Amino acid sequence: MQVFEAFIATHRPVAPSFHPHYELALSTMLDAGGKRFRPALLLAVVSAYNTLLLEGAYHGAYAIELLHTYSLIHDDLPAMDDADLRRGHETLHKRYDEVTAVLVGDALNTYAFEVLSEAPFSDATRVKLIRTLAKNGGLGGMVLGQAIDCHFENQPLTIEQIKILHINKTGKLIATALEMGAIIAGQKALQKPIYDFGLKLGLLFQIQDDILDVTQTSEEAGKTTNNDEAKNSFVTLLGLEKAMQEANSLASEIEEQLLSFEESLQGELSPILTTYINRHKD
Ligand code: IPE
Ligand code: IPE
Ligand code: MG
Ligand code: MG
Ligand code: MG
Repeated sequence: MQVFEAFIATHRPVAPSFHPHYELALSTMLDAGGKRFRPALLLAVVSAYNTLLLEGAYHGAYAIELLHTYSLIHDDLPAMDDADLRRGHETLHKRYDEVTAVLVGDALNTYAFEVLSEAPFSDATRVKLIRTLAKNGGLGGMVLGQAIDCHFENQPLTIEQIKILHINKTGKLIATALEMGAIIAGQKALQKPIYDFGLKLGLLFQIQDDILDVTQTSEEAGKTTNNDEAKNSFVTLLGLEKAMQEANSLASEIEEQLLSFEESLQGELSPILTTYINRHKD
């Protein structure tokens, strides 16, 4: 992932002007880091099949991270989750103002597609990558999830509806990270099964995130926690213990499903999953 960080450093969003902080604000949340979970998944799939394609794959990995980072900046806005801390830093609307946070989010969202359009692949591959990222990160994916999440605050949904919420707001972007890896690696038959695997992984990731909201301090998480009281989550609906059980059983299913993939892919994905699959127990 060091090479990926170097790629980010050489492809920062640049927009020099006489604006006092716009350009700095564009990079603040990217530079603040984060787990880089989605890029790691994409790069793992590509590594499993052809390391010569990694150089180009960084464009895809970065595009997902840009879109994800934009989603976090908007997620923290007072109109959404109203959070002060993100990736160990003051959120952009706190540090600067809401206008800056809204516009930086907009800029990172479109920059993701600019970066992807410059990936050193065939036009057909680039269009496929752009399309799947737009579909999963956009109106019928992450944005839909966020719309449901915010609209139904203080209105309990059913567990089935919360699964739909989680799959949209979080699962689809994680699934598309894996799918984009398969597209870049030219593994057509892998695209659907790895995407479906990613939806389950994404559902687990969000249930864990909901658990960590109540078990971690803001300092530990590097972001505002204890912030989900009004939200629909496995924890608010089922309580912590049942949410943990649900996460445990999903984690086991995922570990088992991993075995259905080729050995080289298992080998690349397994260290990432080992790091994250039990994180709700930390
Ligand atoms: C946080 O995502 C928002 C969710 C979708 C759960 P991450 O937990 O991946 O956040 P970073 O990228 O590490 O900051
Ligand atoms: C956010 O879910 C999902 C996004 C699409 C950004 P959360 O609101 O639970 O994420 P955190 O806990 O603030 O990181
Ligand atoms: Mg949210
Ligand atoms: Mg939030
Ligand atoms: Mg959360």
